[in-house]
Formats: sequence, C-alpha cells, structure tokens
Amino acid sequence: GPAVALVVAAGSGVRFGADRPKALVELAGRPLVAHAVAALAAGGVVRAVVTVPAGREESFAEALRDAPVPVDLVVGGAERQDSVRLGLARLADARGPILVHDAARPLVPPAVVAAVIDAVRAGADAVVPAVPVADSIRRIAGRTSAVVDRASLRAVQTPQGFAPQALRAGHQHVLDAGLVVTDDAAACEAAGHPVSLVEGSADSLKITTPADLIMAEAILVARG
Ligand code: CTP
Ligand code: MG
Repeated sequence: GPAVALVVAAGSGVRFGADRPKALVELAGRPLVAHAVAALAAGGVVRAVVTVPAGREESFAEALRDAPVPVDLVVGGAERQDSVRLGLARLADARGPILVHDAARPLVPPAVVAAVIDAVRAGADAVVPAVPVADSIRRIAGRTSAVVDRASLRAVQTPQGFAPQALRAGHQHVLDAGLVVTDDAAACEAAGHPVSLVEGSADSLKITTPADLIMAEAILVARG
C-alpha cells in the first residue's frame, strides 16, 4: 500500500516558549507543521494524520490548508507516545509503510523520507534515520566517569518508518507493559522487532529552542 505519515504536533513547546504551540511557530513565514507535511509529501507520503493540542484544531486546519496531501487532525495526548497511539488509531486501514515524524523537524530532506520508505518496502520492520554524534561523550557512574567511543554512537531522527503491524505491536506492548519510550523504534524494539538504520541528515535538526529556529532559517537560506 501507499506510504502514510503520522506527524506528532500536539506538544506545547515549553522549552521554545512561544505564544502558541511550537508546531505553529513560523519558519520563513510558514508554520513548522506545514513544512513537515510538505517535506514528507515530497519524499513520497500520500496522506498525513497530524496530532494537535486539544482546542487548537482550527489553527492547525488553517496552517495546513494548502498541504499537498490530504490531512486528518487528531487530538493528541499527554505524552508523545500517547499522541502516537491516538494518531495510529486513525490509521487502522494503513497497509503500506507508516512514517512517524516530529513536526519539530521541519527540514527533513525528501531523500531521507524516500530512503526510509524504501527500507520498509524492502522488508524492514522499523527504520530509523541516524547521524554520527559530534560531541565527545562521557558516561557517568557515581563520582567517576569514562569516555564512550563516539564512533559507535548514532543520534536518532525522524521520520521513523514501520511496517504497520510492527508499529501497532510496539505501541500496544509499551501500553501493556507501562513503559516510557522516547521514540517509536524503541517501542518496536521493546516488542522484539529489529531496528534498521538509514543515513539521516544534519539539515533535519529538531527545533527545541529559539536558537534552533535561527539555524533552520540559515539552512533554508543556504538551500536557496
Ligand atoms: N508531541 C506530541 N504530543 C505530546 C508531546 C509532544 O505530539 N504530548 C510532539 C511535539 O509536538 C513535537 C514532537 O512530539 O513535534 C517532539 O516533542 P518535543 O520536541 O519535545 O516538543 P514539545 O513537547 O512540544 O516541546 P517541549 O518538550 O519543550 O514542551
Ligand atoms: Mg516534549
């Protein structure tokens, strides 16, 4: 079946500190959530379910009015994994790859989206775009610490792609076991599904604070 997206945008953006939900903050005159949906569509997604904060449906409908693919809005939950579970319920009929993406990553290159879709179509249960870690890392243990070999580490991005049954099983497992996960691949992994990696992109930064938005503006300028 066709690839579909679940875009999580129901967070409030406390660390960003804007006067509106972070996904409605504008980058180059366009809300982050609209950038995210357009990037997914350019990479091959044909439909998007977007989770939104309760009471903000009208603002999000307006922000996504000119989206290049059909969009359904679903009210999200208290934590990100609750929002994913609620959005997933709206994709019960999906048979092709499901891509779960953070609205807070507006600039994911279409080539990364396409690579994630291709890897799922090639048979992977769960696919994660990942990039090398730039900082040196230390693991702390009580009062001491030790260097960690950075070469063996990867930072994880979205969109993460899934065979529908693997994503549903992962989130059901997390719910049943009362686990807290920070991404959807971790939910699948906890349910026993292997996770594959594809190359992510430095352009696909996550907007957390206003400084990240300045970086995103610079990336857009460099793209021309
Ligand atoms: N998200 C969501 N539902 C939640 C929490 C987060 O759909 N209950 C979404 C956010 O909208 C965002 C993505 O998950 O697109 C990643 O979360 P994060 O970057 O932490 O965004 P916020 O939770 O909004 O920001 P903060 O943690 O600073 O409040
Ligand atoms: Mg958050």
